[in-house]
Amino acid sequence: MLRNVRLCVLCAVAAAVLFLLFTAAPSHAADKPVSFINDVAPILKENCFACHDAKKRSGKYDMTTIEKMLAGGSDGEPITPGKPAESDFFTLMVTKDDRRMPPRDKGEAVPKDKAEVVRKWIAEGAKIDAGLDAKVDLVKELRVRWKPPVPPAKYKFPSIVNALAFTPDGKQLVVGGHHELTVWDIADAKLAKRVYTRAERAYGLAFLKDGKLAVAGGRPGQEGDVRIYDLSAKPEETRDGVAILDGVSDPAVMLKQLLDADDSVLCLAASADGKYLAAGGCDRAVRIWDISEGITKAKLEQTVENHADWVLGVALSADGKYLLTAGRDKTAKVWDLKAKESVLTFPEHQNVVYGVAVKPDASVGYSVGADRQLRTWKPTGEGKQIKNAGGHNDEVFKVIAHPSQPLLLTASADKSVRSWDTEKLSNLKTFQGLTDFVYALAVSADGKQVAAGSYDGEVRVWNIADATLVKAFNASPGFGAKAAETPKK
Ligand code: HEC
Repeated sequence: MLRNVRLCVLCAVAAAVLFLLFTAAPSHAADKPVSFINDVAPILKENCFACHDAKKRSGKYDMTTIEKMLAGGSDGEPITPGKPAESDFFTLMVTKDDRRMPPRDKGEAVPKDKAEVVRKWIAEGAKIDAGLDAKVDLVKELRVRWKPPVPPAKYKFPSIVNALAFTPDGKQLVVGGHHELTVWDIADAKLAKRVYTRAERAYGLAFLKDGKLAVAGGRPGQEGDVRIYDLSAKPEETRDGVAILDGVSDPAVMLKQLLDADDSVLCLAASADGKYLAAGGCDRAVRIWDISEGITKAKLEQTVENHADWVLGVALSADGKYLLTAGRDKTAKVWDLKAKESVLTFPEHQNVVYGVAVKPDASVGYSVGADRQLRTWKPTGEGKQIKNAGGHNDEVFKVIAHPSQPLLLTASADKSVRSWDTEKLSNLKTFQGLTDFVYALAVSADGKQVAAGSYDGEVRVWNIADATLVKAFNASPGFGAKAAETPKK
C-alpha cells in the first residue's frame, strides 16, 4: 500500500509541476468585476463541493447549482449581496472560531487570495454571469468551459508514459503525452505526428478493427473520457516535418466521444472479435460498448459496477462473453456479459491488483499486482488459483497475453519487462534498460515485438524472442539531448 501512496504522491507532484509549467496564472485586474463562473465557482469546486454536493449535503446544504447555493441549508440564505461580513458563505471561510469551513479537522483553510475573490464577489453584489442557468450543474458547467492548453513545442520535463500502442502495421508507436498523443517511427525513433487531445493523459490505447484508435484518459480529479481518433486524418499543419493534428476540435481527427466522466478513465480493452470495447476507471464502473456496427453507431451495452474502488485493468475474452477486471480494492473479478452477472472474485493478491489478461480461449485468467506476483487462475467456478510466480522485485503494473504464442508479458516498478511461459509460469526473458517504473506495455500485431514506457518518459522496443533491443528513445518531444539508442550490430 505504501508504494501505492508513493505513486500517488509522485503523480501529484508531477501534476503540480506540469500545472505550473503549462498554465498561465489568471491575472485578476483589480478593477475587473469578479465573474461568478470563472473566478468563484472553481474555488467552491476545490474547497466546498466535496461536502456540499447533491449526495452529501452537509448542513442540508447543496451548493452545486446557483439556485441551491443561494438558497442555503438549514440556516437559510448564506449570502447577503453587497455585505460579505454578514454572509456566512464568506465569514465561515475566514473565521478564527470553530465553525470554520471547511471544518478544521477536515481540511485546510481556503487560501487567503481565494477567500478575497469570494469577498469581492459578494461585495460587488454577488452577481451571476449573464446567460448562466441557475439550475445548471456547476461541475459540468466548469468542465464545458475548460479549455485544454496547447502542448509545449519542446517539453522541459519528461512526460510520464502511461500508455502506448503499436500502429496496426507495426511501424509506429503511439505514446500518451501531455494533452497529446505522439506518434513515432520505430525505425529511426523520429517523431512523425502530434495529435492534440483534450485529455491531459492517456491511460489506455486500443486500435480497433477499422484502424481507428480508441483512447481512455482524463485530467486527474477533474474529468475522464473515452474518445475515438483517426490518426490518418489530414494534419492541421506540418512543423519541422512533424504533422500536427487537432484532436481537440477537428471532427475529422476526433471522430467520437463515447464517455464523459467526472474523473480519469484508467483502462481500456477491445475484444479480439472487434465487437466490444470496455473501459473502467476512478468512478469504479466499467462501461461496455457494442461497436460491431462501426464506431459512429457505438451503443453503450451495459455499465458494470462490481468493484469497491478504482478499476485499474480490464480484459475481454475473445468471444466477448467475459469481462475480467482488476481493482484497487485488491481483487480481480469476472463478469458474464451475456447473463449480466458477477461470476467470481479472485482475492489471492491481497493487495492492489493493477492488471488482468485472459487466455484467448477464455480458459485461464491472469493477474498482476502490488504483491509483485503474476497469478493464473480459473475464470469460472470458484476461481481457483492455478499458479503464481514471483520474479519481479517490485509491484507489477501490467500483464498482456501474447496474441499467438503461449507466453505472457509483464511490466513492473522494478524497471523491467519480463516474458513468462503460460503453462509453467517460468520466467523466459527479462527486457532491461528502462530507468524508472514501467507503466505502459504493448505487443505488436504480428506478435514479434514488445514496447514499454516508463515514468521518466523513456520508451523501449525489443524483440520478444531473444530480448534484443530494437530502439530506445524518450517520447517527450524535444526533451533532452540524448539521441535515440540503437543496438550495435
Ligand atoms: C469536509 C466537509 C466540508 C467542507 C469541505 C465544507 N463544509 Fe460547509 N459544512 C460542513 C458541515 C458538516 C456542515 C454542517 C455543520 C454545521 O452547520 O456546523 C456545513 C455547513 C455549512 C454552512 C451552513 C449551512 C446551513 O445552512 O446550515 C455553510 C454556509 C457552509 N458549510 C459553507 C461552506 C463553504 C463556503 C465551504 C467551502 C469553502 C464549505 N462549507 C466546505 C462540511 C463541510
